[in-house]
Amino acid sequence: MKVVVCITGASGVCYAKRLLEVLKDKGVKTSLVVSESGKKVIEQELDVGLDYLVNLSSEYYENEDFFSPLASGSHRFHSVVVIPCSMKTLAAVAHGYSNNLICRVCDVAIKERRKLILMPREMPLSAIHLENMLKLSRLGVVIMPPIPAFYGKPRSVEDIVDFVVGRVLDNLGISNDLFKRWGDI
Ligand SMILES: Cc1cc2nc3c(=O)[nH]c(=O)nc-3n(C[C@H](O)[C@H](O)[C@H](O)COP(=O)(O)O)c2cc1C
Repeated sequence: MKVVVCITGASGVCYAKRLLEVLKDKGVKTSLVVSESGKKVIEQELDVGLDYLVNLSSEYYENEDFFSPLASGSHRFHSVVVIPCSMKTLAAVAHGYSNNLICRVCDVAIKERRKLILMPREMPLSAIHLENMLKLSRLGVVIMPPIPAFYGKPRSVEDIVDFVVGRVLDNLGISNDLFKRWGDI
């Protein structure tokens, strides 16, 4: 199983960091792609650098690298997670505008009917953002905005991040105990 993890320039790169940590712990192979804006948000929001994230991944590709295997539907990967997903990348994916590797691998996932999870982050959402999400949802793309639940009584930011990442892992079919589930509380 190989999961492609894409980081774009929306707030919330901490979710990608945690996802990569857990996937590595579980022995899941990952390919990492980070947009230029994503790199800037990593510098702004994380206490670790891009190198830390690259070291967590099994392989890393530049977003301009269309010679990457990820750019082709003939390459085998299980799923793509764009975490977090900017409104720009959301719009590009919704319109099949594959001008970088992240948009291209999303395009490949859609055309090959593979799992694609987008974690869009913006507030408030405009009608453009909502229409793009609706269009993609109707194509089978999973739209997972990082919205925490509070029934598990989170006590820290880490608890909130783990809830969101745990729900992404659930959707990928990867068992995890990152958060308290309703029914177990
Ligand atoms: C610190 C910072 C936070 C940002 N947060 C968001 C955000 O939450 N959502 C969003 O859609 N764009 C956000 N942006 C703007 C995007 O980075 C910008 O639209 C960029 O073109 C996205 O490109 P990419 O999708 O290729 O990464 C943010 C930019 C910066 C510098």
